Amino acid sequence: MDTNLKNLRQRFFEEASAVSNADQLSALRDKYLGRKSGLIAAEKKRLGTIPAEQRAEFGQQVNQLGGEVEAELGRLAEGFAAQAEARALEADKIDITLPGTRPRQGHLHPITLLRQKIEDIFVSMGYSVEDGPEIETSFYNFDALNIPVGHPARDSADTFYVSDDLALRSQTSTVQIHTMKRKEPPLRVIAPGRVFRRDTPDPTHNPMFFQLEGLNVDRHITLADLKGTLQKFVELMYGSGIRTRFRPSYFPFTEPSAEVDFSCYICSGSGCRVCKGSGWIELGGSGMVHPRVLETVGIDPEEFSGFAFGLGIDRMAGRMYDIDDIRLLFENDVRFLEQFV
Ligand code: DAH
Repeated sequence: MDTNLKNLRQRFFEEASAVSNADQLSALRDKYLGRKSGLIAAEKKRLGTIPAEQRAEFGQQVNQLGGEVEAELGRLAEGFAAQAEARALEADKIDITLPGTRPRQGHLHPITLLRQKIEDIFVSMGYSVEDGPEIETSFYNFDALNIPVGHPARDSADTFYVSDDLALRSQTSTVQIHTMKRKEPPLRVIAPGRVFRRDTPDPTHNPMFFQLEGLNVDRHITLADLKGTLQKFVELMYGSGIRTRFRPSYFPFTEPSAEVDFSCYICSGSGCRVCKGSGWIELGGSGMVHPRVLETVGIDPEEFSGFAFGLGIDRMAGRMYDIDDIRLLFENDVRFLEQFV
């Protein structure tokens, strides 16, 4: 081999072995393989000075050296690319065995949980769920429910009036009227919702609270149907041994009317803290729909009869979750609500 070429080859491999990054590699490529001023190109230029009989061999040797240099530079370039990729992967590394950070997850409000449970029970008995407006005219809130002008319930000391004739509804019984005006009997509906009264807040009162209304209108509905329905409800809600009792009462929109109690699900009637020693817990008001209410909505009381009831959802929630101040249910303090997941 030509001595110059031999030296050049040796120099190249020495320099190539000292290259430690892609920039240096690119400089080395220019130095040896540069088209105009590269060292291999310079050797090619020497061709003319070589005696004619050695030219062919010299030319072959230059080309071979050029090929070797090219191959070595390519090999080194591949090595640097692999190193760069490995570094990028390392920088991006995710340790999938590390414990994750769990996002905070919301959950339903205890009143919603209870409302859904009550709804499920009545839906299983063939009732549908109705909704009604929270702002009502006096017709729906009072007149149609047989609550005449002058009745204390209409007093502005008890009711939040929005205008002379509009008020925040003080009971879900308003939905009875909407439903009966809209649909023909037979009717079997429940209507859960917010109601508003000008009560001073204390552990058992809040100016906004939740009721659940029930209404069943058909031919031949009797007090026995009311009793059987609420008896079945408390059994499905609190357990099969629970009994009910009906105490005579008065509501303008039912006749006869009754307050309904059920035997305490904690002590079975012997008396404890939950039932305040009486063995009985109040469920709500109920009665047979007053014929005048049926007439007002265009239902013939000679042909149809019905029963209705109203339950206090927050009172039920308070007892069920052992909350001694129902205002806590409405303050939406997450530390309180988190206990009912
Ligand atoms: N609306 C009554 C209240 O707010 C509760 C009630 C009593 C509803 C008797 C009824 C019923 O449907 O029949 O106190």
